[in-house]
Amino acid sequence: MTKLLQLTNVSAGYNDMVVLRDVNLEINDHDFIGVIGPNGGGKTTLIKIMLGLLKPARGSVTRFGEASGSSFIGYLPQVTQVDKKFPITVLDIVLSGLMSSRGKFYRYSRHDNETAHQLLAQMGIGGLAHRTSRELSGGQLQRVFICRALISNPKLLILDEPNTFVDNRFESDLYERLIELNKKMAILIVSHDVGTISYYVKTIACVNEYLHYHRSNIITEQQLADYNCPLQIITHGDVPHTVLQKHEHDHVHNHDSHE
Ligand SMILES: Nc1ncnc2c1ncn2[C@@H]1O[C@H](COP(=O)(O)OP(=O)(O)OP(=O)(O)O)[C@@H](O)[C@H]1O
Ligand SMILES: [Mg+2]
Repeated sequence: MTKLLQLTNVSAGYNDMVVLRDVNLEINDHDFIGVIGPNGGGKTTLIKIMLGLLKPARGSVTRFGEASGSSFIGYLPQVTQVDKKFPITVLDIVLSGLMSSRGKFYRYSRHDNETAHQLLAQMGIGGLAHRTSRELSGGQLQRVFICRALISNPKLLILDEPNTFVDNRFESDLYERLIELNKKMAILIVSHDVGTISYYVKTIACVNEYLHYHRSNIITEQQLADYNCPLQIITHGDVPHTVLQKHEHDHVHNHDSHE
């Protein structure tokens, strides 16, 4: 077992507001961690801490893989509509995933281009390589960003709500793909769909100011309540689903078509 990342007694926030308190978490090479928690609970903040985009107010963050020189973490940010404004091609977005390891002015090789095309084809959007981002749907753009997270062949793949815009079929394809990828990289995935992720992940981190690490993929509503994670599990047939108990969006993930 190789340790990739360790957070020790981390507290973090913005200005005077504390968002995360006393967080301890270790990520090892074969981990597949589902991160759940209510809106505003600090999931994205936790990821920013892991990536070094935000410095903790207290505690320490150690990224053990960074010394190897290769790009160590692949990251899919939480996609917002704003991302559509960048008028660059799909191929360039995917290739930009190599920038952190090779520098801004690196010229992509033919091999890089081939890898990018392969990833796009695997995600079912091979035909979109030369479109610009503003010509894509939310779900298509989400797939492009997943390709960008993967192109550097990272040791740790971090996905912040990859299922926001995607349909049910892509969602299950994505999870099957993640299980394959998990054979060679650790994965940390944020999702509001507790039922669905718990079907695929190995362990669960509940984040709501504090982080409770649950060393199993099976979690009950009572345990969620004990972890102060106000989420409700709704099950539909074989694949369980969930919605937030108090959601603020009009858009409720209630994929009845799974039945
Ligand atoms: N850049 C920022 N400046 C100030 N406050 C911020 C900033 N980013 C996030 N916050 C606040 O920190 C808290 C945690 O936000 P965070 O984005 O980590 O939540 P989250 O668990 O990812 O939520 P969601 O499920 O909605 O994505 C929220 O109250 C949010 O308003
Ligand atoms: Mg978030």
